[in-house]
Amino acid sequence: MTTPLELEIANYTAANPKSAELHNTATQYMPGGDTRNSIFWDPFPLYITDGNGTTLTDADGNKRTDFVNNMTTLILGHRPPEVIAAVAEQLEHGLSFPAPSPSVVQWAKLMCERVRSLDKVRFVNTGTEATLNAIRAARAFTEKQKLVKCEGAYHGNHDAIQISVVPPIDQAGDADSPEAIKAFPGISDSAVDDIFIVPFNDIFAAERTIRDHADELAAVIVEPVNGQCGMVPAKHEFLEGLRRVTEELGILLIFDEVIAFRIAYGGAQDYYGITPDLTCFGKIVGGGMPVGAFGGREDIMSMWNPAGGSAVVQHAGTFNGNPMTAAAGVATLENLTPEKYEYLNHLGESLRSKLRALFAELEVPMGVTGIASLFALQFTSTEVVDYRTFATNDKNMLKIMFIGLLNEGFLMSNRCAGNISTVHTEDDVDAFVQAVRNVLKRIGYN
Ligand SMILES: Cc1ncc(COP(=O)(O)O)c(C=O)c1O
Repeated sequence: MTTPLELEIANYTAANPKSAELHNTATQYMPGGDTRNSIFWDPFPLYITDGNGTTLTDADGNKRTDFVNNMTTLILGHRPPEVIAAVAEQLEHGLSFPAPSPSVVQWAKLMCERVRSLDKVRFVNTGTEATLNAIRAARAFTEKQKLVKCEGAYHGNHDAIQISVVPPIDQAGDADSPEAIKAFPGISDSAVDDIFIVPFNDIFAAERTIRDHADELAAVIVEPVNGQCGMVPAKHEFLEGLRRVTEELGILLIFDEVIAFRIAYGGAQDYYGITPDLTCFGKIVGGGMPVGAFGGREDIMSMWNPAGGSAVVQHAGTFNGNPMTAAAGVATLENLTPEKYEYLNHLGESLRSKLRALFAELEVPMGVTGIASLFALQFTSTEVVDYRTFATNDKNMLKIMFIGLLNEGFLMSNRCAGNISTVHTEDDVDAFVQAVRNVLKRIGYN
C-alpha cells in the first residue's frame, strides 16, 4: 500500500520534471546539487527562476506562495519597488569600492538610532561572521575564553558555536545540564572544551551553569526567539535572568537577533525591554543582499577602532559594508515603519490562531509556535518551549506536510517554519490554512 509520504512524493515528482532534471545536472558539479544544505530536501529541491511579491516561480513554471522569504530575510516580499530602485541607483555608480561610501554611514546611523543597545555597529556579509566577531570581541574584552549557548540553537556556521545544534537525544545528557556535542565531524575539539550548553527557557539551570563557571566565561550568547526549534520565543524571565546574572558576574550577554530582529521596530531587545552588551544581525538588515552586522556598547566596540594604530582587534573583509548591500539595507529599514510591524504582527497572530483552531477541530496532535511574523508547525501535542520538547516532533508527519504543502502551492522551510512579509494578506493566510487542512485530510484527519 502507498504511504501518505510516498503519495506526496509521487505527486511532487510528477509536477516538477524540470527541477528534477536540473537537480540531476547539479549533482554532477555540487555535492547534493547546491551549496546550502538548509534548502535541500528529498527527493530534490525546487529550482527557482523568479520571485515577485509573495510568489515564487520554479523551473517548471509552477507558482507557489512563499512563506520562507529566504529564511526570514525578505520582510518586504520579493522585489519590493523601493529596494529594487535603491539597488538600481547604486548599480549606476559602482558595485564595490576600496573605501567607505556615504550610504554605509546612513545605514549605520539608522541601525544605531533604532536599536537601544547599539552605540556603534560594524557590517559584515553573513550572520555567521556577525556571531564570530561578537564572540571574538567578548573574548578580547573580558580576557576570558569560554561561552554559554543554548541547546538546539543555531548561531551560524563556525566552530565556536556549531555545538549542540540538533544533538541526538540519546547522546545529549541530562536536560538541565546538556552535553556539548559537535554538530558534525570537522569541528575543533577545543570548541567543545570552550563551551557550556544550557537548556533554553530554563533560567534556574542556566544560572547554575553560569555561576559554576563564571571565572572562565567571556559571554552568554542567546537567540531571543529560537529559530531552529520553530521560532520559539524566550520567556521574559529567561532573558531577564540571563541579563541579571551576566551583569553581576562580568560576563557579556550577546543577543543573536539574526532572525529575532524581525519581531519589533527596535528588534527583540525592544520587544523584551532588555539591553544586551552586543547584538548580532543579518537577514532583514541587508534587504535581500548578503549581510551581517554586530554592535553594542561603546567601550567594547572601540576595540575595533584603528585610528592612530589603536585597534585591539582587527577586522577586514573585502565586501564589508559594500554599497550595494548598504543601499538595499537602508531602503528596507526606511520602509519598515512601526505601522508595518503592526500589520505583520497582526497577520502572524491571525495565522497562528487559525491553525490552532484547525488542529483542535481535527483533533490532530499538532501545535503552532512563533511570535510576531514568525511561525512554525509542530508535529507533537507537547508544548514546545526548548530543544527537548521540540525533539518530540513526529518527523514523518513533518515530511508529509512539507511536501504536501509544496503540492498545494505553498513553500515553507523544510522544518515547516514560516514567516510573513508585508505583502502577504489575510487571503494568503486563509489559503494556507486550507492547504494545511487538505494535506491533513490526505493523511486521514477530517
Ligand atoms: C539565529 C541565526 N544566527 C546566525 C545565522 C547565520 O547567518 P548566515 O546564514 O547569514 O551566516 C542564522 C542563519 O540562519 C541564524 O538563524
